[in-house]
Amino acid sequence: MSMPERFSSSMIMPASNGQPIVLEAIDLCKSFTEGGGGQLDVLKNINLSIHAGEKVAIVGASGSGKSTLLHILGGLDVPTSGHVLINEKEIAKLREAERCRLRNHNLGFIYQFHHLLPEFTAQENVAMPALVRGTRPSQALSKAAVLLEKVGMTRRLKHKPAELSGGERQRAAIARAIINEPRCICADEPTGNLDKATAEQVIQVMLRLNREYGTSLIVVTHDMALAKQMDSIYSIENGQLIPK
Ligand SMILES: Nc1ncnc2c1ncn2[C@@H]1O[C@H](COP(=O)(O)OP(=O)(O)OP(=O)(O)O)[C@@H](O)[C@H]1O
Ligand SMILES: [Mg+2]
Repeated sequence: MSMPERFSSSMIMPASNGQPIVLEAIDLCKSFTEGGGGQLDVLKNINLSIHAGEKVAIVGASGSGKSTLLHILGGLDVPTSGHVLINEKEIAKLREAERCRLRNHNLGFIYQFHHLLPEFTAQENVAMPALVRGTRPSQALSKAAVLLEKVGMTRRLKHKPAELSGGERQRAAIARAIINEPRCICADEPTGNLDKATAEQVIQVMLRLNREYGTSLIVVTHDMALAKQMDSIYSIENGQLIPK
């Protein structure tokens, strides 16, 4: 399949910060088949470029397609048509192992529902992406402990997810997302289940990563206070990405 015209009229071009593009969506469409056999077009020709160090918020009504977009951007789901490029490589064209490597080295995920593994401790969960990457277990575990300390969970290292509060689970999920120092963090409602003070801590952790390491942020949120701290805000409306 040939690449579509990269600068079509529907292209949304965020103010480029002169940095390389870390993650790019070109003409993404996603449709689901409904129970009754109809077709639900959730995403319609979405174009988006995320540069290194850029912070983007995605807002929109419940069911508008925010999580679907984030999952496709991260290679966790496939588009019905269109292309996703991580570090300028088209993920659909890579073998599974290479796709996993590219994802593991470049992207960190904070899911809407934490997706911690129930049988492992907080520290082991946080260490997991580093272990997958081949970091020595002792090194991965000590790095996990440092990150859990940064999110205020020094005394919860050995707790399993069922023994953590909702906010603690989310903070552990954040520590897990950043352990490999990804170039871009994709966060789906990272503060959705947190009280105001904990949400603020979590936001500060992400902003600090952005400032100190140039980590790009794509944050899906209903929280306008969080959205306003990003460089740009897009809303998904009727399957399209509208700059706000
Ligand atoms: N696997 C699926 N099969 C069919 N429909 C789906 C599937 N996954 C999602 N949908 C539908 O696609 C739409 C978008 O879902 P999505 O989870 O992306 O919404 P969202 O914007 O993240 O919503 P929320 O703010 O509630 O998390 C919804 O209407 C949902 O019902
Ligand atoms: Mg969602």
